[in-house]
Amino acid sequence: MDQGLKGALGLNGPEACLAYYRDWAANYDSGFAAEMDYMLPAHVAAAFMGTGAGGPVLDVGAGTGLLAEALRGMGFRAGIDAVDFSAEMLERAAEKRIYDHLIRADITRPLDLPRRYVGIVSSGTFTAGHVGPEALPQLLAVSLEGAQFALSINRRVWSDRGFDRALEDLSAARRIGDLHLIEVEIYGAAAARIDADHAADRALIALFRAG
Ligand SMILES: C[S@@+](CC[C@H](N)C(=O)[O-])C[C@H]1O[C@@H](n2cnc3c(N)ncnc32)[C@H](O)[C@@H]1O
Repeated sequence: MDQGLKGALGLNGPEACLAYYRDWAANYDSGFAAEMDYMLPAHVAAAFMGTGAGGPVLDVGAGTGLLAEALRGMGFRAGIDAVDFSAEMLERAAEKRIYDHLIRADITRPLDLPRRYVGIVSSGTFTAGHVGPEALPQLLAVSLEGAQFALSINRRVWSDRGFDRALEDLSAARRIGDLHLIEVEIYGAAAARIDADHAADRALIALFRAG
């Protein structure tokens, strides 16, 4: 792999992130995801399916579409849109023909989308070198009341980037409700041979409803 996880988690800003994914898109699935036994999209899909929520769903930082593929594999039939700021990652997702709409946008800025989503899902986007809790208001702004969220948040950034406080504050302000957290392993056993520093990384899946 030319690009890899270590580099991705060390990114410092949106320009660096965009440039990194421009080069990583071509072998993200066959390299990183396959070699690291990347389980997080399946965990998020299972958590979302467990709530019984429907669509339309917005997949946030959708990348090459692994989370939507997992949802489809679990029998989810409602519409799924993808939002990501990397054109190259969205091109890979488009090839899979699993999304209704592909939206190229920076999720840390107000999204030019109607308030129409019944589900918001995300895997791998809220992590080191990527997106912090500043994106949460943009996602709430496109969600219908009661919309079900299932967002993975890497354990390494949970407190450091202030996800704990942001979710507490949104709960206190009743902008979200029914918050609960599921802790999962991000990678499978194969990861230890590829990247011992990150093989045991864990994420919290934040399940909550828009208030
Ligand atoms: C680790 S990948 C995860 C992709 C996919 N969800 C998965 O689990 O395989 C992170 C994705 O977030 C996207 N991303 C990072 N920062 C973003 C931002 N500010 N706005 C939109 N997308 C962003 C990247 O382009 C990349 O596709």
